Amino acid sequence: MPDSLFGTPFIAAPMAGGTSTPALVKAVHKGGGLGFIAAGYKSAEAMTAEIAATRQLNIPFGMNVFVPDPRQLPPGPEDRALIKAYRKELEPEAARYGVTLPPLRLDDDDAWQDKIDALLADPVDFVSFAFGLPGKPVIHALHKAGSRVISSVTSVEEALAAAEEGPDAIAVQHGSAGGHTAAFLPGRRGQAARTTAELVAQVRNAVGLPVIAAGAITDSAALREVLAAGAVAAQVGTALVRTEESGARQLHKDALGDPSFKETAMTRAFTGRWARSLVNEFVRDHGDAPEGYPAIHHLTSPVRAAASAAGDPHRLNLWAGTGWKQAREGSAADVVREFLNGL
Ligand SMILES: Cc1cc2nc3c(=O)[nH]c(=O)nc-3n(C[C@H](O)[C@H](O)[C@H](O)COP(=O)(O)O)c2cc1C
Repeated sequence: MPDSLFGTPFIAAPMAGGTSTPALVKAVHKGGGLGFIAAGYKSAEAMTAEIAATRQLNIPFGMNVFVPDPRQLPPGPEDRALIKAYRKELEPEAARYGVTLPPLRLDDDDAWQDKIDALLADPVDFVSFAFGLPGKPVIHALHKAGSRVISSVTSVEEALAAAEEGPDAIAVQHGSAGGHTAAFLPGRRGQAARTTAELVAQVRNAVGLPVIAAGAITDSAALREVLAAGAVAAQVGTALVRTEESGARQLHKDALGDPSFKETAMTRAFTGRWARSLVNEFVRDHGDAPEGYPAIHHLTSPVRAAASAAGDPHRLNLWAGTGWKQAREGSAADVVREFLNGL
């Protein structure tokens, strides 16, 4: 039963770093789903340009924004010392490609206020937030501008905090999900729930808001399961990364289909924020990477760029959920249809 808020039970996860594109939004819509673009790592101007390009399609879509973490802007002295030590640890990685690690950047809030101002001036259908809560005034202003708001959470405790601010829905992300955790309460990495459906049921019992389920939803059986647990829709990421319309690097797409990658793990090695990635050499070699997002994201950026240019998947962040083996190639429209036809 399509939910009236989103008009479909299939939502394409916002995927920053180039994966989400207007072409992906279009293909997902063609298949019967709702697409998102992602503002993370972009300037407000680049975000606005992408909204303009997506709007040309004349279809509903959403935009996703990272909420800056006040504890990391700037990091406290202890965290800063750990980040500096990690910079030293990374020097041989940079030397391997003849690149230089940049000085520490400790003040990047991902152009938060400029992005909110731009979204108020030029509203989109849906705005979702990750890594933190946007705050009541921002939600209120977005509502006045005509947007629906989604806050991302990873636990019942976070869902209760999110609900206080009055969003229209909450995206409930389980630990099986690919990419960064949306968690914002300290020490909230592993959840009590074993599966996405179980976490959805827990949150539904605690909070009276529409719930979007995220994490290892790889086929229509998994979609059915989260809908039965009370979700109104699923937010699917990894299953779309290899599609034609995904803007992910070819190296990332190929790694998802490469049987030499055997598992995923949560790692802070690439960005200083826990994220689920395929386990490659970089993940293995930097298992003790400290907390420090986005400082560590900036620190590893030249290494990742050089690895990408060299075609080396072992020094690149290969975001992947635990269901990565089911991600397939082809048009995203066909992938979405397959999910929906099986309902
Ligand atoms: C490559 C990639 C990039 C992602 N980027 C974002 C992002 O920018 N914002 C966000 O809220 N979630 C992001 N996520 C997480 C998704 O919203 C979602 O929680 C996750 O993909 C669901 O699990 P799955 O990958 O197993 O389908 C990303 C996930 C992946 C795989």
